[in-house]
Amino acid sequence: MSAYPLVHSHLLVKRLLSLNKPKSLAPALHYVYMVGETVQCRHDTDRELPFRQESNFAWLSGCDVPGSALTIAYEHDGGAEIDPAKVHTTLWLPEIDDAEVMWCGLPPAPEELAKSLHLTSIQNGWTPAALYPPKPHDSALPTIIHTLPTTRPPTSVMASINGPTHSTDYLLKALHEARRNKTPKEVELLRKASEITGGAHRELMRQVGLKSLKSEFEAEADFVSYCIKHGAKNQAYTPIMGAGTSAGTLHYIANDRTFPIGPTLLLVDAGAEYHNYCADVTRCIPLGNGGKFTKECREIYEIVLEMQLKAFEMIKPGADWEAIQRLMHDVLARGLLRIGLFKAGPLGSASEDEVVAKLISEGLTSAFYPHGVGHLLGLDVHDVGGLPEGRSSEPLLKYLRLRVPLEEGFVVTVEPGCYFNEHLFAPHVNSEFVDHALLAKYKYVGGVRIEDNLLVTKNGYDNLTPSWLPKTVADIEALTTGQSS
Ligand code: GLY
Ligand code: MN
Ligand code: MN
Repeated sequence: MSAYPLVHSHLLVKRLLSLNKPKSLAPALHYVYMVGETVQCRHDTDRELPFRQESNFAWLSGCDVPGSALTIAYEHDGGAEIDPAKVHTTLWLPEIDDAEVMWCGLPPAPEELAKSLHLTSIQNGWTPAALYPPKPHDSALPTIIHTLPTTRPPTSVMASINGPTHSTDYLLKALHEARRNKTPKEVELLRKASEITGGAHRELMRQVGLKSLKSEFEAEADFVSYCIKHGAKNQAYTPIMGAGTSAGTLHYIANDRTFPIGPTLLLVDAGAEYHNYCADVTRCIPLGNGGKFTKECREIYEIVLEMQLKAFEMIKPGADWEAIQRLMHDVLARGLLRIGLFKAGPLGSASEDEVVAKLISEGLTSAFYPHGVGHLLGLDVHDVGGLPEGRSSEPLLKYLRLRVPLEEGFVVTVEPGCYFNEHLFAPHVNSEFVDHALLAKYKYVGGVRIEDNLLVTKNGYDNLTPSWLPKTVADIEALTTGQSS
């Protein structure tokens, strides 16, 4: 059974029952009770905030109707085997409210939704009382109601047959684990988000090359406009349009400055959301200099590109994300040594390996590359399930958002970077491992990040970020100097 999104309920029930063994393998009626997002207003006004379905609910229901609910009933015989045919998933649409219809129109009818959403059933007009667990065939069978920690089943439901037990212990964890491995339909939606995102980045590069944009906010408007025109009304996160030194702030979202007069780079980290699925892509575009990278911009850019390509070589099932992160520091250290920004200093004629180890342990690479190499991507830009044991406290790893070995079906971002951020560098202003005079000449570069979105496949990966989105210096310059279109 692979119908969307019904297959997600099967995956969830499987995960749910594999948690807390052997208790969970005993016979029981498992009843999942979920309430979707409602329309919220700003503080004490009636100004509506943009509606976005809660991601776990979206994953299970595929439904964007505010105020819906979802239940899954599974009468489990016991043991490790799950019978998908016995997983009953019901989507419950909200009751029709006349005033709501007047302002916002009629919600879709169940028959309409059933054309694209495959569930066991879609019902109209739920009330908490309508969501009673079904009576199990064996009345002695215990009923376990699973909810998210934020959702309490109404007492009327709890007063149901055979005194059900309420548990918030497993559902969220099961959802996080189940959402990690993307299903074919999810990959299709992620690919579409990436395709629109690739188009928006390419168009923005072209416009910067044509000098039709003069500011970070015009760049944001250009990007968002392209996405909306191509079917993606929402962004996966607030776009980052950092020109020059703005790019040294990792999540710079003010986007309110005009482009600097002198040549530098525009760091664009932006992605469309398509049917709630995210893209998260970063490219850097030369500003000024006739559409070409300056020497310093090119050198830093090529080091970051080398980091990314070295990371790509390691992406396959079983790969250790922490090892990839450590490799990024190694490649960066060697790159900055090569261009003379780092130096052996007091280590004199020590081997390059020894110098690299020292640069990393001194925190010098972290001063230029402070974040993680990437994260899971899905219904959330920093998707769930990457940190079952929490974050690492180790300096090189502390911002990693993924600490489980890669598996087929994971979608990850790979986003190394190199930034000139005075605050990050402050502890090293007197470091003997840095050529400070040379460093001063690179500061205008601001920051470089290169980010693609990869699906982990059986033998390696499939890059969802379109290959026609320029990434090498030559391909970017061809577009920004008008040699290609
Ligand atoms: N766009 C946020 C990130 O790259 O994680
Ligand atoms: Mn990003
Ligand atoms: Mn990212």
